[in-house]
Amino acid sequence: MWGGRFAAGPASVMREINASIPFDKRLWKQDIAGSKAHVAMLARQGIVAQADADAISAGLDQIAAEYEANGVPVNLDLEDIHMVTESRLAELIGAAAGRLHTARSRNDQVATDFRLWVRDAMDEVDAGLAALQAMLLTRAEEHADAVMPGFTHLQSAQPVTLGHHLMAYYEMVRRDRSRFADARERLNECPLGAAALAGTGFPIDRHATAAALGFAKPTDNSLDSVSDRDFALDYLMAATQCSLHLSRLAEEFIIWASQPFGFVKLPDAYSTGSSIMPQKRNPDAAELVRGHAGRIMGCMNALCVTMKGLPLAYSKDMQDDKPPVFEAHDLLGLSIAAMTGMIETVTFRTDRMRGLAESGFATATDLADWLVREGNVPFREAHHITGRAVAAAEAAGVQLADLPIETLKGIDARIDERIYAVLTVDASVASRKSHGGTAPDQVRVRIAQAQKNAEGQTK
Ligand code: ARG
Repeated sequence: MWGGRFAAGPASVMREINASIPFDKRLWKQDIAGSKAHVAMLARQGIVAQADADAISAGLDQIAAEYEANGVPVNLDLEDIHMVTESRLAELIGAAAGRLHTARSRNDQVATDFRLWVRDAMDEVDAGLAALQAMLLTRAEEHADAVMPGFTHLQSAQPVTLGHHLMAYYEMVRRDRSRFADARERLNECPLGAAALAGTGFPIDRHATAAALGFAKPTDNSLDSVSDRDFALDYLMAATQCSLHLSRLAEEFIIWASQPFGFVKLPDAYSTGSSIMPQKRNPDAAELVRGHAGRIMGCMNALCVTMKGLPLAYSKDMQDDKPPVFEAHDLLGLSIAAMTGMIETVTFRTDRMRGLAESGFATATDLADWLVREGNVPFREAHHITGRAVAAAEAAGVQLADLPIETLKGIDARIDERIYAVLTVDASVASRKSHGGTAPDQVRVRIAQAQKNAEGQTK
């Protein structure tokens, strides 16, 4: 491609370090779409003869069919997807192929291809997250009344419902989708026509190529256009946060599947056995989702570090932008699918959850709140009184609701029989009707609202 200036070919290690074709072949569809939009515009603007543009466009279609059927040939001499395609085009249509690269550079070409690819990646992730949300809604609705211990510090705190707990992840995924949607909007400007870095002297129509490729508008600064990788970083940052949420959910499944908890039975389809311990059923899929989050964060970090010291405009370091995005996207897609499948098929052991919710003095706050409400006791004092009731129950080896009324009255004379009505876990959750609270009625309101907004996605 630059034979005019060079007498000798590259050293073999140069050829190897320089080549991006082993990974950027994944951009082939976007590369062909970009070239077709570019050449159609060149013909309309009278920069390339219509007959040449038609030959180029037909040749590109044929190359697309070949790639579809046989994959992209990897030949390190041709360096990258842009050169592989252009050299094949020359084989197919001859000298006219050399007109395609008029008024563009691989710098704006790769920036355009990569934006198109990341835009598709964002749409794929969004579809996966929508399916995950739908599954969370289904299981949350099914278990809107199922009482489980709610934790802080991983200590039983107050009873909540399983539906409420699952809906917490619905909210996290909602924010993830909104982050990808924001990023997509910022990404959607077309760098094609920025050429190498300074724009071009040819009378191109950047608005036309932007529109043909589904971009909202062309980018406004040619230097920025070829050197900006914010869209890839935005993707990786959104992916990082999303993977972090999936990892937290995976972590819960791992804890819940452990024998001491026993809150879930993970399906065979998402578990593995042990080659030595026949009783084992290991939560490997969840552990790998947790593990993948680390790798996705690593990808985000890799591109941040690649970009942080680069002067304007293009530098070859930027060729390294693609592997971390491809890797993160593959890992995220697998993680979303695995979590969706696990949520769909997991057996929630709600009897066990209820049993544990009833056994951890989880309604102590309800006793204190009752003293505030019915006895006009200041909350701090009520907290102290309740602490003594918990100590008495613990000493007697019973639950709060099992303490005889005389014992409770002995602790504080303002307590009477009505207290037993608030000490059950069902009464406790039903009472938490504040907006966003765990009361089954509240949870159902949120589920219904979310189902109504299903297409509106990020509400
Ligand atoms: N393969 C290159 C990349 O991904 C294409 C751009 C090459 N531009 C250049 N000036 N060498 O970054």
